[in-house]
Amino acid sequence: MFDLKITHCTLPDGRADMDIGIEQGRITALQPNLAGAAERTIDAALQLVSPPFVDAHFHLDATLSYGLPRINQSGTLLEGIALWGELKPLLTQEALIERALTYCDWAVAKGLLAIRTHVDVSDPRLLAVEALLEVRERVKPYIDLQLVAFPQDGLLRAPRGVDNLTRALDRGVDVVGGIPHFERTVAEGAESIRILCALAAERGLRVDMHCDESDDPLSRHIETLAYHTQRLGLQGRVTGSHLTSMHSMDNYYASKLIPLMAEAEVSAIANPLINITLQGRHDTYPKRRGMTRVPELLAAGVNVAFGQDCVMDPWYSLGSGDMLEVAHMGLHVAQMTSQTAMRDCFDAVTTRAARILGLEGYGIAIGARADMVVLQAQNPVDAIRLRANRLAVIRNGKVIAESLPNVSTLSLPGRPAEVRFQR
Ligand code: FE2
Repeated sequence: MFDLKITHCTLPDGRADMDIGIEQGRITALQPNLAGAAERTIDAALQLVSPPFVDAHFHLDATLSYGLPRINQSGTLLEGIALWGELKPLLTQEALIERALTYCDWAVAKGLLAIRTHVDVSDPRLLAVEALLEVRERVKPYIDLQLVAFPQDGLLRAPRGVDNLTRALDRGVDVVGGIPHFERTVAEGAESIRILCALAAERGLRVDMHCDESDDPLSRHIETLAYHTQRLGLQGRVTGSHLTSMHSMDNYYASKLIPLMAEAEVSAIANPLINITLQGRHDTYPKRRGMTRVPELLAAGVNVAFGQDCVMDPWYSLGSGDMLEVAHMGLHVAQMTSQTAMRDCFDAVTTRAARILGLEGYGIAIGARADMVVLQAQNPVDAIRLRANRLAVIRNGKVIAESLPNVSTLSLPGRPAEVRFQR
């Protein structure tokens, strides 16, 4: 007797009409025409059943604070950082927890069940750290939340930066963050990477730095990050987030850098919605898009994910936790329009992001955790095209969110009575 059966599933790899059997929170059967009763059966009716969405880059401490204490007028990264600095002394733990939990509700409704969030550790009180540690516990039954110690004001630039970050790791923050391009000099940026990678190696932790988030083609901290990754044997555990300077780099230099990243097994995260709105702000025309070189990195064998980064905060006024919106924008900005490339964009918000987080038991396979999303779409490309409705969201074998199918009724002579935007 299965706890849950999902029948007539199309899987992201194209296998069609598969049945999934779930017992005690794990997938125990995966085949067509699966026999055996179940406490509950969902008929997917040949729609796509995907592992849950994964956001590899987010800021849960700032989310849903849009307009507090004021709105970012210039729309730049630097005004966003200044604005966050104005907001920080006004933050309370209760309000921060409440906003984060509200966002997590949105995430669940969108089938987003794993989030890596950066948490600002520049405040010596570690207020945001304490708040998100609490949120991590509270959402554990339904979201895998991974925290990154993020020295927003600079590791070496801010007073007691190293001490604050170390204390955050001591408190149980999972991943070592950084922001080398925001340190005072290139040399200090490089020194911050050396210190942070050493800390990660010592403690056996992963690394995920905001790296080269600028339009400066000479911002090359990613090279230093790849170097220390190899030097310390951290291959496969290090990620460079944003990497927007790579958009503007000289092609010859990029042709040397990208193989170095592949060799060091450094992953990359682009944040298309945010990169395209924050970067290129000093340009007249043509305006640079600012997103890193996603197709070229993928072609070289670098693991690349797309992150949401911000939802309604000092840097970005929109967003809803919908990783298909993120994939949709990434696809457009990177001109990833072939069938293979569009599927890569789907993977960038599912399997590739899961690999960055190191999620255990992720995927639709026997033995995997029974976490999945039934989408109102027939394949991954359609899911992106439609930003598909999440018909059912399943965690540990239990349905935790459901939506009615999107159907519009029509009143047109001689035409069908309803439209679903699917063929
Ligand atoms: Fe970020």
